[in-house]
Amino acid sequence: MELIDGNEIASAIIEELTERVAEFDKGKPCVAFVRVGEDPASVSYVKKKERTAAKIGIESKLLVFPESISQEALMEEIYQLNDTPDIHGILVQAPLPDHIDAREVFNHVSPAKDVDGFNAVNLGKLCQEDDSAFASCTPAGIVELIKRKGIQTEGKHVVVLGRSLIVGKPAGMLFLRKGSPGNATITYCHSRTPDLKKHTLSADILIAAIGKPHFVTEDMVGSGTTVIDVGINRIPDKTKKSGYRLVGDVDFETVAPKTSFITPVPGGVGPMTVAMLMANTLKAFENSIRSA
Ligand code: GUN
Repeated sequence: MELIDGNEIASAIIEELTERVAEFDKGKPCVAFVRVGEDPASVSYVKKKERTAAKIGIESKLLVFPESISQEALMEEIYQLNDTPDIHGILVQAPLPDHIDAREVFNHVSPAKDVDGFNAVNLGKLCQEDDSAFASCTPAGIVELIKRKGIQTEGKHVVVLGRSLIVGKPAGMLFLRKGSPGNATITYCHSRTPDLKKHTLSADILIAAIGKPHFVTEDMVGSGTTVIDVGINRIPDKTKKSGYRLVGDVDFETVAPKTSFITPVPGGVGPMTVAMLMANTLKAFENSIRSA
């Protein structure tokens, strides 16, 4: 078993991005973070994104709105960001409150600034295997981990547990692409899939993105599988000052010894999501210079 160290790989990417940003003497990339409400996980994710941007030399602007903001008012803010030339990327932190139509919001972020890749245009381009698309950051981070560890995907069976728009669906599409990494055979599983184990046991690469702590147990994983754990679940832990600890969707203790590669939680996929967001922001900035 080899641990895939997401912190180490994300740090290498951040260093590469820092060098590239330093080369621009006129103007710097700038990303806008939009947060609605005070969900503690969202507050912490956005802080992490702000800190990483600053480290790289990417400017950021944080907009925080109350939970009660109306759809119309939020859309107006998005339109303004779309129209601000010195903002190159826009990230609307999910989840949004129930009364907000999140799809409507994501679809009105300018595709050129949609560094999260949630917009229908970018999702469509991903399907078309158009490299100009912004790929959703967590799936892009997973692919980057696989690539940098030299794990082969050609002809392999990738089983994706979860069908979310943010992770599951685009992750499968990325591994399906013609290219490297890519050319894999994909199985999507979800909460309504009967006999999950039948599928997971035949996986060469298992991507757990189902959002349930310790969902993937030892009996569901064949020996030599590469396991990518996307889950970030807070479970109560009285021994911690915060009162909780983070665990993945995989029961790491029992599953890890059977795997060839596995990502830990924390320190696996999480840091990669942030690194890929920064890479997408730099891409949006470079595109804006090219089209100016
Ligand atoms: N919530 C959970 N993951 C993400 C992400 O990658 N981007 C945004 N905007 N919100 C999220």
